[in-house]
Amino acid sequence: MKILILNGPNLNLLGIREPEFYGYQTLADLEQLLMIQAVNAGIEVVFAQSNHEGVLIDWLHQAFFEQFSGVILNPGAYTHYSYAIRDAIASIPIPVVEVHLSDIASREAFRQHSVIAEVVVARFSGNQFQSYGEALQFLIERGNEE
Ligand code: DQA
Repeated sequence: MKILILNGPNLNLLGIREPEFYGYQTLADLEQLLMIQAVNAGIEVVFAQSNHEGVLIDWLHQAFFEQFSGVILNPGAYTHYSYAIRDAIASIPIPVVEVHLSDIASREAFRQHSVIAEVVVARFSGNQFQSYGEALQFLIERGNEE
């Protein structure tokens, strides 16, 4: 089993960026934690991050062509308005899980709506790094059931 963990714009600045919302740990710290979880579960994870919408779309397509079992995606602010990312998710027949560090449902009005919610298989939000851990666990269990 091979899972792509894809992070969108500004998530490369974790640890620096608005720590009151996103904490003091870095993207490298997050990836290390998820790598440990993956190794313990005996699965493979690949990490990618881009600040560019089209690059995120290319990664989603690539995940399908390279036969990944699923994708964990934090699209950052694209969550709230990128119909192109929404369509990319709908275009690939592999499960995509939406994650957010912060609780987008309790923040500014513009963050409360996700245009990708309808096309993902599950959503985990508001538990900081644990949101990703829950998403990974979800895909591992889903894979085991198949
Ligand atoms: C975020 C929430 C988004 O609203 C924001 O634009 C981000 C991060 C989160 O992980 O909480 O970049 O996706």
